[in-house]
Amino acid sequence: MNLKELRDNARPLVKSHCRVCPSCNGWGCAGEIPGMGGAGTAASFKRNLRALANLEFNTSLIHDVKAPDTAVSVMGFALSMPLMVAPVGGLSFNLGGPMGEGDYQRAVGEGASAAGISCGTPDAAAEGVFEAGLAEAGKPLGFGIMPFVKPWEPELVTRKLALAKEAGCRAVAMDLDSVGLATLRLMMHPCLPKSEEEIREIVSFAHGLGLKFAIKGLMTPEDALRAADCGADGVIVSNHGGRVLDFMPGTADVLPEVAKALGGRVAVFCDGGVRSGGDVLKMLALGADCVMVGRPFAIAAVGGGAEGVALLAASYRQELETAMVMTGTASVRDIHSSILRRRSSGMTS
Ligand SMILES: Cc1cc2nc3c(=O)[nH]c(=O)nc-3n(C[C@H](O)[C@H](O)[C@H](O)COP(=O)(O)O)c2cc1C
Repeated sequence: MNLKELRDNARPLVKSHCRVCPSCNGWGCAGEIPGMGGAGTAASFKRNLRALANLEFNTSLIHDVKAPDTAVSVMGFALSMPLMVAPVGGLSFNLGGPMGEGDYQRAVGEGASAAGISCGTPDAAAEGVFEAGLAEAGKPLGFGIMPFVKPWEPELVTRKLALAKEAGCRAVAMDLDSVGLATLRLMMHPCLPKSEEEIREIVSFAHGLGLKFAIKGLMTPEDALRAADCGADGVIVSNHGGRVLDFMPGTADVLPEVAKALGGRVAVFCDGGVRSGGDVLKMLALGADCVMVGRPFAIAAVGGGAEGVALLAASYRQELETAMVMTGTASVRDIHSSILRRRSSGMTS
């Protein structure tokens, strides 16, 4: 199987919900939520890709970097490269049910594990989605999973964190930006924002269970610092793939200021529009410790199961290694912002 075949396999299975476009960029599916699109005009989704496209590499070719070291350790995860599969849930209403939630999480978990990386698992209003992901934690993966819990009412959050602990997880996260999710409103189970006091209580409950805790969906230095002050171990710069609010900035545009404000206090993850290993390197050079990818892995899992996920991860790895060699970057620790330049032309691709 190759990447084209797995996308061709996926297309008929998801055809009422995703066109499996040559470039997954938000143009073909604007406003399609439920579905795979971005909210409203999909400006936030498109800006994620544009922010990355506006960056170019400064190459460096006189050096002895021949086999770059991509290994990284972040928030307790020892990964063969700084990439994780982002949590994607609601296969029935977002992708037309090409496979069950459990089969999907298994494909992602096994494929990620084969590639030496980890994955986030999703949460949803529907019963069983969170638990389907946790089933992957019990397996001898070696790389672990990071379950994401939505900002539900406190009893439900603590119950889900306890389930994650029981399943053997070492770290969990909360996608705080799900407050904006239309799908939760449609299902009459919306989420509400959390005060600093509430966040402190959740983080302290997670720490009491021995779980590290990250907060996803933070897009400003102020929010990221609040999360760190509340005890979070990680911040995930994300606009939920543009699904929670129209006209948010691209994540690559805000990442440098967030990473600078945090100054290494907590782990920094980032996602949104990352479509190649080169994009992974750009995010790392902008200040991320690890990068997440959503939609492309969802299509890989539908079109090729665990093999498809591992194949896509291998392609990200090969592109990342090439970009590291071409910029003279010996290891993830050596990545520097000077490998990037902002493009001068006004073109968008
Ligand atoms: C169909 C779909 C379902 C998603 N479900 C979740 C979820 O349950 N929890 C979560 O934190 N993020 C969820 N996300 C957001 C992704 O984790 C990730 O932030 C986003 O897809 C990254 O952008 P990308 O798809 O451009 O890579 C979902 C995204 C999509 C497209």
